[in-house]
Amino acid sequence: MTLIERLDAYAKMTESALEAALASPNEATYPAIFKAARYSALGGGKRLRPSLLLEFCRVCGGTPEKALPFAAALEMVHTYSLIHDDLPCMDDDDLRRGKPTNHKVFGEATAVLAGDALFNRAFETMLDPAVLQDFSAETVLRAAGYLARAAGMDGMIGGQALDLDSEGRRIPQDMLMQLQRLKTGCLIKAGAQMGCTLGGRADAETLEAAERYADSLGLAFQIEDDLLDIEGDITRFGKPIGSDADKSKATFPSLLGAERCHALVRELTDDAIRAVQHFPDHAFLADLANFLVSRDY
Ligand code: IPE
Ligand code: IPE
Ligand code: MG
Ligand code: MG
Ligand code: MG
Repeated sequence: MTLIERLDAYAKMTESALEAALASPNEATYPAIFKAARYSALGGGKRLRPSLLLEFCRVCGGTPEKALPFAAALEMVHTYSLIHDDLPCMDDDDLRRGKPTNHKVFGEATAVLAGDALFNRAFETMLDPAVLQDFSAETVLRAAGYLARAAGMDGMIGGQALDLDSEGRRIPQDMLMQLQRLKTGCLIKAGAQMGCTLGGRADAETLEAAERYADSLGLAFQIEDDLLDIEGDITRFGKPIGSDADKSKATFPSLLGAERCHALVRELTDDAIRAVQHFPDHAFLADLANFLVSRDY
């Protein structure tokens, strides 16, 4: 299977799991919240984080299909973070995944609720007792715990807070690195940690290799996102170009310039590829790291 074929298969599996997770008997009674949640959760996206989770599960000896409730949960948390990130009180963006942002279509109040709803649904999905048919309670607790921590104040939310606090300021490189690791790296790393846990191979050495891979990949991924915000093509990127500059965001290109950023992305990608050699069946993960540096969306 080629990289694209496997990525596509993981995306389709995740989307079916998202469809199932978002179904509700209440939909006919108050449809707006379900429509808004579906609009963002099923409206495109690379499905990078669930793909990482499913692949780490596979290379650790597990069955990706069984890990789908967790993959869908991770993508729901990511999608919630994007809906809130686009709100006028945050990045104030109008375009996401090539479509108008959630609040542009449903209004701010429903967009806030849709984000909250997806966050909550992530935990409903992982903590559904049916999951115990496939995993022990300890495994569920560990996997859900990784996601809870990655999404919180010492993870994505902390990074978003630091991002907002840094607008219009020139912050030192180490703080910028921490900002990027928190706002983006943590959820990517959670995919790796959850995948290893659900795959049944989460010894210290394995987790350390998976975490190093995800940490370098996550940092490279956000720097590339910042570069695409300058150099990208709106029809491919699916988001406004120049949004970071408009908001005077603290980004790597604004601190180091584009040329040094491209070199840094390459170095981080090479580090990710070195880390993942720990896994005998690492071809997809190594190819994925290379693919993400050369992406235009
Ligand atoms: C967007 O993430 C937010 C960042 C952390 C850069 P993605 O680039 O993974 O967005 P989708 O899910 O593919 O739309
Ligand atoms: C990542 O940062 C946002 C989240 C953690 C939600 P950005 O603000 O750069 O993401 P995009 O560019 O809007 O997708
Ligand atoms: Mg942002
Ligand atoms: Mg943004
Ligand atoms: Mg961005």
